[in-house]
Amino acid sequence: MAKNPVRVLVTGAAGQIGYALVPMIARGAMLGPDQPVILHMLDIEPAAEALNGVKMELIDAAFPLLKGVVATTDVAEACKDVNIAVMVGGFPRKEGMERKDVMSKNVSIYKAQASALEKHAAPDCKVLVVANPANTNALILKEFAPSIPAKNITCLTRLDHNRALGQISERLNVHVSDVKNVIIWGNHSSTQYPDVNHATVTTSGGEKSVREIVTDDNWLNSEFITTVQQRGAAIIKARKLSSALSAASSACDHIRNWVLGTPKGTWVSMGVYSDGSYGIQEGLIYSFPVTCEKGEWSIVQGLKIDEFSRAKMDATAKELAEEKSLAYSCLN
Ligand code: NAD
Ligand code: LMR
Repeated sequence: MAKNPVRVLVTGAAGQIGYALVPMIARGAMLGPDQPVILHMLDIEPAAEALNGVKMELIDAAFPLLKGVVATTDVAEACKDVNIAVMVGGFPRKEGMERKDVMSKNVSIYKAQASALEKHAAPDCKVLVVANPANTNALILKEFAPSIPAKNITCLTRLDHNRALGQISERLNVHVSDVKNVIIWGNHSSTQYPDVNHATVTTSGGEKSVREIVTDDNWLNSEFITTVQQRGAAIIKARKLSSALSAASSACDHIRNWVLGTPKGTWVSMGVYSDGSYGIQEGLIYSFPVTCEKGEWSIVQGLKIDEFSRAKMDATAKELAEEKSLAYSCLN
């Protein structure tokens, strides 16, 4: 029997991530090849014509899984009955800007959209915030939508996770799908901590730890980390625009694993509401290693944390606590 369509909201759908993301969703990259979808696309009035153009292209592409398209500048209409909300709308960072610079513009959007989601979305709606500052926007959304369970509000650090996998695979000249269990701890910013201490590579001789195969500790402890931390800025420098196709693809990975589960023995990184695991204070949206089953994520427990990691995990938590105060000062 055919499945009922799932309603997926994409905000900022006329923007560059939106343009890459909506066809991926309509092709089944987010929810699977047998899951019909109805796309809800929101943008602001100045982008209304462009948004309508995206709708025209979606119709022209004749996606078999796409059962309907709502393209609107009305937040309430956009949020009506959505099961999944991918929040991309906002202002991107330009060359030379830090994420803090986009804070004041974006947190007020997330406060307003929290209320719309709370009022109009399906009660079990799963929310993924992509727009920067992603962790803090997600936290503001959570705080201003108290009836949405905290576990349903997440932010995207899967792009950073995928970037870390990519760097290891390039270094070792192995396929990226043979590398797993890197971790992104903390903020989707240059203080994030890409951790390879538990990561493995599948080789012809079985599964080996990345630290065992990459013998150059110096590379793993410095260049690897800064390359992943600075990758967003490197893309902006090269494209004069922030990452879009990789962000869209990683957003699909994030939701797909959340809804359909993570493969056995594999974890992924997600920005989630901290429950105090690994000594990270509650009240922050912090990226942790998670596994997902039956539509629920859980933080991987019991990983050994050395002194080097501890300092980096705390530094990125500190930045998030500062961002939180800054966000509140922008809202007041
Ligand atoms: P973009 O400027 O191309 O698109 C953003 C869209 O949002 C525009 O169409 C704009 O009109 C729309 N918008 C603005 N305010 C809105 C509102 N109140 N409601 C709905 N739509 C609104 O930007 P982009 O390159 O698509 O990036 C989008 C966001 O994603 C940025 O904040 C960017 O920094 C962030 N980003 C995050 C990650 C991540 O890994 N978390 C990766 C890449 C980009
Ligand atoms: C990215 O990581 O590519 C985005 O968050 C863009 C940015 O501002 O770095």
